[in-house]
Amino acid sequence: MALHRLLGMEVGVPEPAVLDQFYREIGFEGGDGSWGSSDLPGQIRISEAPYRQLREMRVACEDEADLAATAVRLDGIGIKYQSGEGRLRITDPVNKWNIVVEPAPAHDLPPKPERLLNKPGQRNRVNERAEVIVEPSPRPPRRLGHLVCGTTDIPRSMELYLALGFRISDSVAGIANFMRCSRDHHNFLLTPGPVPYLNHYALEYDDFDSVMRAASVYLRNHEDVHVDGPGRHQIGGNVFWYLKDPSGTFFEHFTDMDVIEDDDAWEIRSDWGADSWSVYGSDHQSELFFKPGDMQEVIAGWNKAQA
Ligand SMILES: [Fe+2]
Repeated sequence: MALHRLLGMEVGVPEPAVLDQFYREIGFEGGDGSWGSSDLPGQIRISEAPYRQLREMRVACEDEADLAATAVRLDGIGIKYQSGEGRLRITDPVNKWNIVVEPAPAHDLPPKPERLLNKPGQRNRVNERAEVIVEPSPRPPRRLGHLVCGTTDIPRSMELYLALGFRISDSVAGIANFMRCSRDHHNFLLTPGPVPYLNHYALEYDDFDSVMRAASVYLRNHEDVHVDGPGRHQIGGNVFWYLKDPSGTFFEHFTDMDVIEDDDAWEIRSDWGADSWSVYGSDHQSELFFKPGDMQEVIAGWNKAQA
């Protein structure tokens, strides 16, 4: 595919220093508004803004020819763009997010040694304690995996992101449109919202134990941060646990998401039922997802910025 990975995002928040501290605490590396894993530094950038918001999403294509093809598609739907310095930039006319498309090398994360697990008839860990027990600290997140955003205009927004090269993986009628710009089942999801806003972003962890431990440690050290989980989504297949960062944006710990390498081998489904939230744990999505505690502040901030 022309688009092949999510490079990163920029968020705007009233107190960037608080988010700096948060990303340091959860094990990212960096500083001064630029954070990521040791493999993918600088994936998340932070700037000061009057209310919490998504400012920019950066995605990678393969080469300059992809940029030219994308420009033709944007011309076809009447979307203005800037091209130069080897990049293509647009401001989403509905949601005001800045989108940057640029060529970048293919990249996947180097695997960490798998934890040895004992199963019936398959005793892999013998005479030693489980690794997660003896690890001195939780394993850090490996990368930014996806963003989920609310929008006031699904059809116009979908038209734009499909023109940019995103592909649909699955959908839930009227609720969720799962799109990918890589082999991940989803890197970007649009859902109806009262104003455009960042609902959550997701950080990938090595495995189930890493998700459980990292989320548990954060929960034990902070009050009023639980959102939903643990569970395993039916759509995307990923193990999840959603908590709230200090800016009020939800962040998801995830692992083991579906990978789509052959479009023809993947059946897009749009018939997901009300029970598709999780295979185990809660049988429905928390209302918090649709009504974050600071939604009125976000709405007021958006309206003021558009006035
Ligand atoms: Fe998610």
